[in-house]
Amino acid sequence: MVSTLPTSGGPIVRLRSVTKVYKLGRSEVTALHGVDLDIDEGELGALVGPSGSGKTTLLNILGCLDVASGGTYELGGQPIVAQDSDLLAPIRSRDIGFVFQSFNLIPVLDVTENVELSLTCAGKHGPAERRRRAEEMIDSVGLASLRRHRPDELSGGQRQRVAIARALATEPRIVLADEPTASLDTETALEIIELFVTLNRQRRATILFSTHDPRVLTHVRRLIHLKDGQLTDEPSPLAAAMAPQKTTAP
Ligand SMILES: Nc1ncnc2c1ncn2[C@@H]1O[C@H](COP(=O)(O)OP(=O)(O)OP(=O)(O)O)[C@@H](O)[C@H]1O
Ligand SMILES: [Mg+2]
Repeated sequence: MVSTLPTSGGPIVRLRSVTKVYKLGRSEVTALHGVDLDIDEGELGALVGPSGSGKTTLLNILGCLDVASGGTYELGGQPIVAQDSDLLAPIRSRDIGFVFQSFNLIPVLDVTENVELSLTCAGKHGPAERRRRAEEMIDSVGLASLRRHRPDELSGGQRQRVAIARALATEPRIVLADEPTASLDTETALEIIELFVTLNRQRRATILFSTHDPRVLTHVRRLIHLKDGQLTDEPSPLAAAMAPQKTTAP
């Protein structure tokens, strides 16, 4: 079944001058100050920045979980219009895959049923095809032997793999992951990022994840730096260290 959004041929995500102001009683917090961002199909990017820099705010806007206070957002060439909440719900379930820090799996459903549910919510495919796709996706995240297990029978890393399978099963336009490795130990965190890299390569999945965890960044080509609600070109010391060394001609 086709996506709800038309294919544009341009970037999947196009943000222009996006601002976000939270109102807290009489005071206001400006979390994003005029963000311009393009994300192309098939990109794997890491959104990096210190606590409070606006990573979650930006991901929530990209995921249509929240709306910008100003500026424009196009997803797959379609303008996302703030007031139209009836339109945003199907876009969320069909065109966006979410991965959360705390996994957010349904405890009473087994691994296969958790993944199938996202296909059901997205209104994609009949029951037999949903089962086939769910099992294929579970196998591709390395959990073939755990299909019938429930989340409480899995490790943190395995639960996050289920969440990733769930996010990708609907073949969304973009997968958004807010701090997906924050509750995992270093080794498991690296395995999860390696899984993103593999799924990005094998399935051409477009993935954007946030982190302030420098352990995971060496695996990702595109780093998008946020500082005080603004994108900055300034590479972090880590990114500078990762940049290709200039070679001098002999
Ligand atoms: N619902 C809200 N109401 C008011 N202010 C908020 C709200 N959510 C975020 N903020 C403020 O907006 C700014 C950006 O917050 P955000 O959560 O996007 O940062 P972050 O980069 O995700 O931080 P962290 O790394 O700690 O998760 C902060 O100053 C925060 O206090
Ligand atoms: Mg955050």
